[in-house]
Amino acid sequence: MGRGARRSSWTAAAIVASGLGVFAAGRGTLDGPMIGASVVVFCLGGVIGGLGRSRIVRAPENPGASRHSIAEALLANIPDPVILVDRRAVVIEVNPAARALLPALKLRHPLSFALRTPDVLDGIEEVLRTGASLKTLYSTRVPTERAFEVQIGALPMPDGVVGGQPNVVLFLRDLTSARRLEAMRVDFVANASHELRTPLASLLGFIETLQGPARNDPPARERFLGIMKAQAQRMARLVDDLLSLSRIELREHVAPTRPVDLTRIARQMVDTQGPLARDRGVVLSVAADGAFPILGERDELLRVVENLIENAVKYGGSGGRVEVALRRQTDTASGRTSVELAVRDHGPGIAAEHIPRLTERFYRVDVASSRDQGGTGLGLAIVKHIVNRHRGRLIIESAPDAGTTVRAIFPEFEAAGSPDILAEPA
Ligand SMILES: Nc1ncnc2c1ncn2[C@@H]1O[C@H](COP(=O)(O)OP(=O)(O)O)[C@@H](O)[C@H]1O
Ligand SMILES: [Mg+2]
Repeated sequence: MGRGARRSSWTAAAIVASGLGVFAAGRGTLDGPMIGASVVVFCLGGVIGGLGRSRIVRAPENPGASRHSIAEALLANIPDPVILVDRRAVVIEVNPAARALLPALKLRHPLSFALRTPDVLDGIEEVLRTGASLKTLYSTRVPTERAFEVQIGALPMPDGVVGGQPNVVLFLRDLTSARRLEAMRVDFVANASHELRTPLASLLGFIETLQGPARNDPPARERFLGIMKAQAQRMARLVDDLLSLSRIELREHVAPTRPVDLTRIARQMVDTQGPLARDRGVVLSVAADGAFPILGERDELLRVVENLIENAVKYGGSGGRVEVALRRQTDTASGRTSVELAVRDHGPGIAAEHIPRLTERFYRVDVASSRDQGGTGLGLAIVKHIVNRHRGRLIIESAPDAGTTVRAIFPEFEAAGSPDILAEPA
């Protein structure tokens, strides 16, 4: 986690701690409304005091009530689980995220009924003993495997409030997605290395054969050189795809700002891919009623259309036809219009269990057939990232023997009058 994020999570922690103090008072853990109000001032003063000690918190008419609802709203909006316990580790307050994570959590029941991890329970004791905050880990296996970092901190009460005994606040930060990302990164490196090693091993094998047994066998040499060229080309394609993927990922958060006409882009790619499709006996057609402007990066959109047509021709070419179609749709709820680019084939289709995974890197329904066709397994991953960058959606519809339709849907660019902005070079 970055330093900024860490600092902001501690700021949130401080704010929630203040809120929890208010709750503790409201729950009657403390003695009476006067004390409650003083805790409010103390807690909020603690936070605001950190910003500027001399500022005075002016008490509203009914400070307990308004602070209480502010604290409640704050707590409810903290996406991470927050739990407040007293010095005997009895639960005083929890937020909705904590309830969702630990349904057995009940107010005024010991925390250990719902969360039995010794490290956390020992942590609470240690925090009470030393007064210093600490971090520990908590993980669950059911219903799914999740891991949390638990920050345990003392929440001091002012002198005279329940004998000045501190409560303890627990903040849980979900590490699951960070860990999943890390695992994905490791998988990705392993997959990429494996994909490169296979053609490399084959190249090395042929080089040895050419230096040895096939040294004086011109026909074998010709054949082997042909295979070596194909393997080297496969490695080059893989490296190109890996580079495009990382370039697109780097820019994914920056949406394109130039309007382009998706019809032109689709037509250009259909012209480029036409001969390849014809060679395979596939008729490639495009249907678009006029211009369809979107905010986009022309080169990236060309890659989208290219990959989708290539897949349709390679894997669905047996259907004889591939249709590219553009249309406009209007969302009935928001009234926003979008532009849909659909690439449809009439090939063997894809079984339902594969569809959600097709945009994963290196995922292929049939690895051997993809390799035979020069595939790297990165095409749809690249398409997906480009569509994301364009704030669009990608939908894959397919059923065995019913062909496949892949739709990329982009927000339409509503030109403010001037049609010339679409006059980019073809
Ligand atoms: N139109 C299609 N019809 C059938 N299968 C498809 C189609 N498009 C994609 N696939 C399947 O999805 C896999 C992933 O596609 P992609 O990411 O483009 O990788 P590649 O084409 O390099 O194998 C392909 O290997 C293929 O199994
Ligand atoms: Mg592909």
